[in-house]
Amino acid sequence: MSRLPPWFLVLAGLPLLVLPLHSEEDPKIALQAEAKAAMTRYSVTLQQALKEAMASGGPVVAIEACNQQAGPIAAELAQASGWTLRRTSLKLRNPAAAPDPFEQETLAAFAARASQGETVAGLSRTEIITEADGRRMFRFAQAIPTGELCLTCHGTEIKSDISARLQALYPEDQAVGYKAGDLRGIFSLSRPL
Ligand code: HEC
Repeated sequence: MSRLPPWFLVLAGLPLLVLPLHSEEDPKIALQAEAKAAMTRYSVTLQQALKEAMASGGPVVAIEACNQQAGPIAAELAQASGWTLRRTSLKLRNPAAAPDPFEQETLAAFAARASQGETVAGLSRTEIITEADGRRMFRFAQAIPTGELCLTCHGTEIKSDISARLQALYPEDQAVGYKAGDLRGIFSLSRPL
């Protein structure tokens, strides 16, 4: 440490001075960064669970993993982060994931932007809204693109054993017929202000 020139300490201290000022000026930016970090953890944890189940037992076993772990993963991360986290879509597999009005509007807007050629992965929305009961909520949504891996269970040609298991668990399943790059849904995060 003694070998470092004095200007190094000044430079090293700068980000600490700048960042808190910045977040006080615009709490929306700080909350958005927090929401993105929680969403990344959510996304990575879900994908890890999916990939592990696919590797160890194949798609039919992975369906059970999605069915049983998606809810608890969101609940655990909500407790750890203070954010409500969910996934929703215009074409649902799990009917409990139905979008609320903000999510429905966001999904429709993202679908329109994607159909005009915008890259799905880049679509996000940040808003502060007032609920019917008067609570102010910070809302963040990020588009979920359909990747190659997803097509096994959400694509156009689903193998019969996979399809049979999906039908048994989700008789109302609408979440099929996707192509790589399509908008599959959104991550939706919220927190009261
Ligand atoms: C092994 C089969 C399988 C694969 C592969 C798969 N999913 Fe799913 N997906 C499911 C199941 C089962 C559910 C319902 C989970 C539940 O009960 O909440 C689901 C639900 C979802 C939902 C929640 C909304 C809804 O329709 O219920 C989204 C969004 C989603 N999947 C996106 C993806 C994406 C993106 C990929 C690729 C990274 C992917 N899925 C890969 C089986 C799969």
